[in-house]
Amino acid sequence: MKHFTSSVLSFLLVVFFISSAHSTIVSHDERAITIDGQRRILISGSIHYPRSTADMWPDLINKAKDGGLDAIETYVFWNAHEPARRQYEFSGNLDLVRFIKTVQDAGLYAVLRIGPYVCAEWNYGGFPMWLHNMNSVEFRTTNTDFMNEMQNFTTLIVDMMKRENLFAAQGGPIILAQIENEYGNVIDSYGAAGKAYIDWCSNMADSLDIGVPWIMCQEKDAPEPMIETCNGFYCHDYKPTNPSNPKMWTENWTGWFKNWGGKHPFRTAEDLSYAVARFFQTGGTFQNYYMYHGGTNFGRTAGGPYITTSYDYHAPLDEFGNLNQPKWGHLKQLHNVLKSMEKSLTYGNISDIDFGNDVTATIYAMKEGSSCFISNSNTTADALVSFQGNQYSVPAWSVSVLPDCKNVAYNTAKVNTQESVMATQDADVGGIRWSWRPEIAEQTIVKGKGDVVADYLFDQKDFANDASDYLWYMTRVRLEKDDPIWSRNMSLRVHSNAHVLHAYVNGKHVGTHFVEDGKYDYDFEKSIELAPGTNRIALLSVTVGFQNYGPFFEKSPAGINGPVMIVGYKGDERIEKDLSAHPWEYKVGLNGVESKVFSPDSGSNFKWSTEKLPTSRMLTWYKTSFKTPSGSDPVVVDLHGLGKGEAWINGKSIGRYWPSFKASDDGCSDECDYRGPYDSNKCTFKCGEPTQTLYHVPRAFLNENGENVLALLEEMGGDPTMASFKTMSVGSVCAKADENNVIELSCNGKKISDIKFVNFGNPTGKCGSFAKGTCEGDKDALKLVTEECIGKMTCQLEASSKMFGAADCGDSVKSLVVEAVC
Ligand code: GAL
Repeated sequence: MKHFTSSVLSFLLVVFFISSAHSTIVSHDERAITIDGQRRILISGSIHYPRSTADMWPDLINKAKDGGLDAIETYVFWNAHEPARRQYEFSGNLDLVRFIKTVQDAGLYAVLRIGPYVCAEWNYGGFPMWLHNMNSVEFRTTNTDFMNEMQNFTTLIVDMMKRENLFAAQGGPIILAQIENEYGNVIDSYGAAGKAYIDWCSNMADSLDIGVPWIMCQEKDAPEPMIETCNGFYCHDYKPTNPSNPKMWTENWTGWFKNWGGKHPFRTAEDLSYAVARFFQTGGTFQNYYMYHGGTNFGRTAGGPYITTSYDYHAPLDEFGNLNQPKWGHLKQLHNVLKSMEKSLTYGNISDIDFGNDVTATIYAMKEGSSCFISNSNTTADALVSFQGNQYSVPAWSVSVLPDCKNVAYNTAKVNTQESVMATQDADVGGIRWSWRPEIAEQTIVKGKGDVVADYLFDQKDFANDASDYLWYMTRVRLEKDDPIWSRNMSLRVHSNAHVLHAYVNGKHVGTHFVEDGKYDYDFEKSIELAPGTNRIALLSVTVGFQNYGPFFEKSPAGINGPVMIVGYKGDERIEKDLSAHPWEYKVGLNGVESKVFSPDSGSNFKWSTEKLPTSRMLTWYKTSFKTPSGSDPVVVDLHGLGKGEAWINGKSIGRYWPSFKASDDGCSDECDYRGPYDSNKCTFKCGEPTQTLYHVPRAFLNENGENVLALLEEMGGDPTMASFKTMSVGSVCAKADENNVIELSCNGKKISDIKFVNFGNPTGKCGSFAKGTCEGDKDALKLVTEECIGKMTCQLEASSKMFGAADCGDSVKSLVVEAVC
């Protein structure tokens, strides 16, 4: 009886608990997403959980909240969660439930873009390679195997979220979910099957009964009840096809990703906030930043081909989670202003006044208080506008926001948030002492021994199942003395789709090819020396991230597709011997990776040498121990001097590295004019420099006892002695404000140590190179700012004559600029 009573009690408690969890009703009308019946302005940002470590999540999410976000969006990464069919992985930074709960704990909503095709510059767009290797599967169309697997994974994720009560209808934070991704961009390539497939996606998703709306991005006329949304650098001109759908923007690209050998893209705070303000001016009500925090492509998760390990994206939070200022702060101010206008933006009557010359005022009229925007989309001419009895000057390519239709609370082109310049400091990690060992490739390179023989050339996806970046293709060719091919110039010719190809003949490296001109389908030809008798050819094909975008992208070839031939030249005559149908021996991966020589406890099992440390040696392993740098600043390893390969910290891969691959010399702009439409080639920097030298070493990968191991697999040849560990923090901050505004300087938890420049008047130049103009205040500005700021973590300065003394600058607007050292 006692037992019975206590179980009834616990049952009642559970029922009470479940029914008391606040369930939220999420729906939409033609104007906005509604939450518990109220139209909302929702500002969301993408943070992909596998691109940071779980211990970083609370800080990233809190910084997003502090930056004025209402929601965190993430994709779900199928190939990370189901690396082998029906074998699942949800631990560490793949703990999706923990991530969503961290969002919930911060009091934010979540947007779950399940896909499960995600694009996302993620390996193979998120598709597992085993799916590709299922017989007769075709992706993203009405193919039974594909649809079954897609449904299986989508259901698994939905059930997992439901079990944890994570959908809003269950009291959880998830207010929206996405099925597929940008299918509208490719639907035409799939013909009638494409339409049937997207209808199936919609029905399948709808049947999962998640209690919150489903969205489909870039899917014109999405089947009901899916809500169609926009992606792009701008979405103000976008109109949902279905008039009962609200105007939603799922991907506002805050910057762009990087390719190996590419430059660094840069999107200004002025242009990004212009895009946001234009969207809300034109009736938009939901907006998501892609990315708010980009993070890192650890391991082999980068998509491609050729997407870098860093996925910084020039997002408001940088790769390491630092505030990317002024972007973060400038947007925060905009979010605050927009939120103050939530009621009028979602319920007000919208009308426009066209002033010509691309200048428009928009009024959101409401009895309780109207709000207004004045935009100037002219790329060069500033505008002077007379609006409701007042005069406004609106700079070119900017939007002024007037929450009361009178006072300008914000202008997208006027940035008064400080700019932070990040700096690296050498980290004290104890003495670095390298040891090395060769990758034991003798069997392969010299003897040509593999695990499987076939008399044709396999596609790398089919054969290697993405178990490794590396696949050896090896064959022999026997040449008699009287073979007609003999000539003075002989060469090896390989038609290839290998992202990187290393060719060996009779144990000797004869050449390497990687793509510098964007052509992933190429002919490699190198002169070689052959001898009468048996000659051995070993080709190492290397993948650098599988393609993640485009119609039928999963079919794009990888590896050595042939023909492979040896060529002799007799005068003008070309004699070819096609080896494509020879017996080819195959071997997946490298021995050292297979036997985990990178793991910290591999020391005793393998021979490592500290003698005669080689440099510029291909296929070489290096390792060193190092101490954990003190403090909590992010840690990076600077790998300049190395060639290409993969790096491990305490046995965990921090990603591929390729610092020897430099961006071309031209096309960079010193000055980035924010005015005019942005695209990813518009403002680029780091011309002629390696695309990535600094690699994130997450603190969570470091050992508590302070002893760590860095291991490098150097594929192309490099010098590890040039590598070093660094920590990263704000080096200096610069701020500018027009008269009567306030500057706030902050060193992100550190103290301001020096004032490099201060001037109140009409200073010129930019952060790092400010100079005095023709007028300045008559007080000792340096002394004042030194007294006010040195030794403090933050300080505020008013740009005024009262503070800095009278300055005779004629009619021009006076401003204050400060550069401080942290
Ligand atoms: C979109 C895609 C995203 C991402 C983005 C570029 O087309 O939906 O997943 O790839 O492009 O960063």
